[in-house]
Amino acid sequence: MSDRAAAVALRGIGKRFGAVVANSDIDLAVRRGSIHGIVGENGAGKTTLMNILYGSLQPDRGEIAIGGETVRLRSPAEAIAHGIGMVHQHFMLVDRFTVIENLLLGAAGGPLLAGAEAQARSALAGFAAAYGLTLDPDAVVEDLPLGLRQRVEIVKALHRGAEILILDEPTAVLTPQEADHLFEILRRLAGEGRTIILVTHKLREIMAATERVTVMRRGAVVAERATAETDAGELAALILGHAMPQRARPARRAVGGVVLEVAGLSLRDAGGQELLRDVALTVRSGEIVGVAGISGNGQSELLEIIAGLVAPSAGSVALNGRDITTLTGRERRRLGLGHIPEDRQRMGLVPQLSAALCAILGDQRKVPRRGMMVLDHAAIDAATEALMHAYDVRPPEPTRDASKFSGGNQQKLVCAREMEGRPAALLVGQPTRGVDIGAIDFIHQRLVALRDAGCAILLVSVELDEIRSLADRILVMSRGAIVGAVAPTAPEAELGLMMAGIGVYATQTAVTAPS
Ligand SMILES: Nc1ncnc2c1ncn2[C@@H]1O[C@H](COP(=O)(O)OP(=O)(O)OP(=O)(O)O)[C@@H](O)[C@H]1O
Ligand SMILES: [Mg+2]
Repeated sequence: MSDRAAAVALRGIGKRFGAVVANSDIDLAVRRGSIHGIVGENGAGKTTLMNILYGSLQPDRGEIAIGGETVRLRSPAEAIAHGIGMVHQHFMLVDRFTVIENLLLGAAGGPLLAGAEAQARSALAGFAAAYGLTLDPDAVVEDLPLGLRQRVEIVKALHRGAEILILDEPTAVLTPQEADHLFEILRRLAGEGRTIILVTHKLREIMAATERVTVMRRGAVVAERATAETDAGELAALILGHAMPQRARPARRAVGGVVLEVAGLSLRDAGGQELLRDVALTVRSGEIVGVAGISGNGQSELLEIIAGLVAPSAGSVALNGRDITTLTGRERRRLGLGHIPEDRQRMGLVPQLSAALCAILGDQRKVPRRGMMVLDHAAIDAATEALMHAYDVRPPEPTRDASKFSGGNQQKLVCAREMEGRPAALLVGQPTRGVDIGAIDFIHQRLVALRDAGCAILLVSVELDEIRSLADRILVMSRGAIVGAVAPTAPEAELGLMMAGIGVYATQTAVTAPS
């Protein structure tokens, strides 16, 4: 395609962060009215490239053409003026504001323009009618589920006149149903001539939604394909640089005694709404219990209560036979409870701290010291560097701030810390969110190895494939309650019905904890 026919053409883009080459000599042309996929391992430089196109990072070299015209994008405001919109990997909304206020913040002229609010309200109604982007204008953003917050971001970009919409891992936070809806919307937008650039780790999304796909590795473009002329296997090999290993479902081992036991757990929010209803479960040494469910049905609260971050309204939590319901999170950790939180940005890492300090978070007592109070930084750094190599965290630099790692590498760092703590029980929330296909395989293998070493693992994931391939038994949550138990071999349709709260409680396939 000539650059003229392209909605966006990037030529020779280069960007370094110190010694790290994030982008090197990148050429990319995206056809108007198409959905163009970008894939690549964690740290490949995808977000950096998108931030350059959105004007929030300046390239060291190279040029950008929009609709055939070379432009300089010195800020997001300039990118917006050229019709570029972006939905970030981590949302950028003002949480305490309403939907309409967030929309006004982004609009030309801002909230001061007379009639702006009325205009924004009618625009919102228009987007709802045209694309199914329905939103309550007066809802406060922080009260909205993640799927709707993302919808606010999309509507905000459209309201600012985006003709080119960049989405950076938009489905990482969505349920499969929400993701399907998003793709319907993206197809309609593309059908109207808007151009969509989609960054994702999920190859089935690439195969289902895109027209072309660009593969990045270590800062460079290594391949581009027409989607119709490739398949997930080839893309995986291009991303990894080698073929994806095929793995059988790990055989179930003998299980031991009960390590984690939860009984009668209930939780009400400030408004009296029941978020958890009488939840009971056990996890034994040497097994992975998966909790499946559409997100927002109490799974997050369940993990937070067991981890000691939230106090339940009723019920108890026991670890190795000891009641830990009133212990702090730190005390629970000391007793051998690990936690890979769902939200690594908020709970897993402290972005301003170095990777090395994040690697010892929550575990300060076991940390090497020189004297009573003084941390032995050299020893901590060396240990962290070894950990980073073992978990392929890139770049393996313990002194780099946590915030300066790509999203997937942050997640690998949290997984490394929690798994290497050799916990008796491990709580795992969405462990592979935002993680590339190679790292997903690696994290899955580590979880199975930990299980085989006797750890009791409670795994919450919205990825059914993940639960089905890892869990020894599956509990299904719906509206705050456990509505069924199934074997991992149960048909997906059966699981889906239970997740939707349509209670065909499987009797044939129901599995209880082995005794
Ligand atoms: N602000 C920054 N300062 C220093 N290094 C950075 C910064 N932002 C990104 N990097 C580095 O640049 C490289 C590319 O990162 P980028 O976030 O673009 O990767 P990505 O392909 O989006 O990865 P992921 O799939 O994990 O989101 C990484 O090595 C990252 O550590
Ligand atoms: Mg990224």
